[in-house]
Amino acid sequence: MSDREFRIMPALTYQPGRPFMPGSQKFSLTNRSVVVVGGGSGIGKAVARASAAAGAKVAIASRNLDKLAAAADEIGGNTAYAALDMTDANAVENWAGQLAGVDHLVISASSAAHGPFAELPLDALRGMFDAKFFGPYSVARAVLPKIAPGGSITFFSGVLSRRPGENCSGLGAVNGAVESLALALALELGPAIRVNCCSPGMVRSEAYAALPADAREEMYASTGASLPVGRVGETDEIAHAVLFMMTNPYLTGQVVDVDGGHMIRQYATR
Ligand SMILES: NC(=O)c1ccc[n+]([C@@H]2O[C@H](COP(=O)([O-])OP(=O)(O)OC[C@H]3O[C@@H](n4cnc5c(N)ncnc54)[C@H](OP(=O)(O)O)[C@@H]3O)[C@@H](O)[C@H]2O)c1
Repeated sequence: MSDREFRIMPALTYQPGRPFMPGSQKFSLTNRSVVVVGGGSGIGKAVARASAAAGAKVAIASRNLDKLAAAADEIGGNTAYAALDMTDANAVENWAGQLAGVDHLVISASSAAHGPFAELPLDALRGMFDAKFFGPYSVARAVLPKIAPGGSITFFSGVLSRRPGENCSGLGAVNGAVESLALALALELGPAIRVNCCSPGMVRSEAYAALPADAREEMYASTGASLPVGRVGETDEIAHAVLFMMTNPYLTGQVVDVDGGHMIRQYATR
C-alpha cells in the first residue's frame, strides 16, 4: 500500500452560532477535505483536480488501483487514493472507517446498462441499481459519521430521469431514484449537512470508452447538434458546477442540471 493511500485527513472545526466559514473563507475549499468516489476518471477526476487546485485535501477511490495512482499523479496536491468497489458493503465500511474527517463527499462512480425495455435482462438492471444507486447509498451512509457539520454530499444522476431516451428506461429510473434519495437526505441530514445531486448531460468521458472511436464521435456530434449550446460537455464544466454545489452554504436539496440545455432541446419527430 502506498503511503498516499488512506491518508488521514483532520476534521475541520465548526463554530455553532457563526456563519460556517466567516468572511472570505465562506465559499472556500482551502484545507477542506474532499473525497471523490469515482475520482479515478471522467467527471470525478475533474472534480478532484478542481478541488485540489482550489486548495482542498483530496482523496479519490474507485476499483482500479493503477488508474487511481495515475489519476492521483495527474491531480497533484498529494492526492490520496484507495481501491474500492462500492458494491461491496464490507469494503465500503472498511474504507470509510479509515477516513478521519470529511468535509465534502462526491460520488460520481457508476456503471450503466442500456437496452430496450422488453429485452434488457433483469440482472443487468439489478447490476445497474447496485452500481449507481445502492453503491452511492452505502458510501453515503458509511461516510456520514465522518462528515463535519457544514459539509456536503453530492450525488450524480443524469438527464435521462426527466428527459427519457429510448432504450434507456432502466438508466432513467436509477437516475430518478438517486435524485429522490438526494432530496430526502437533504431534509433528513440538514442543517448540519447539505445534500445535492448533479445531473449532467452528455459529457466526453471514459464512460464511453467501450464505443469504437468513430461511433463515439458520431454520437457526440449528433447529440451536441441537438443542444442549445451546440456541443456535448467537458468534464471540467461539470466539475465547475460541483465546486459551486460543495461550497455554497445555501444550496441543498437540489438537482442541478449541467447539460448544455438538454432539458429544453427539441427531439426530432418520428
Ligand atoms: N459522461 C456522461 O455523458 C454522463 C451523462 C449523464 C450522467 N453521467 C453520470 O455522471 C457520473 C460520472 O460519469 P463519468 O462520465 O465520469 O463516468 P466514468 O468516467 O465512467 O467514471 C465512472 C467511475 O466510476 C468508477 N466505478 C464504476 N463502478 C464502480 C464501483 N462499483 N465502485 C467504485 N467505483 C466504480 C470507475 O472506475 P473503476 O472502473 O476503476 O472502478 C470510474 O472511475 C455517473 O454517475 C454518470 O452516470 C455521465
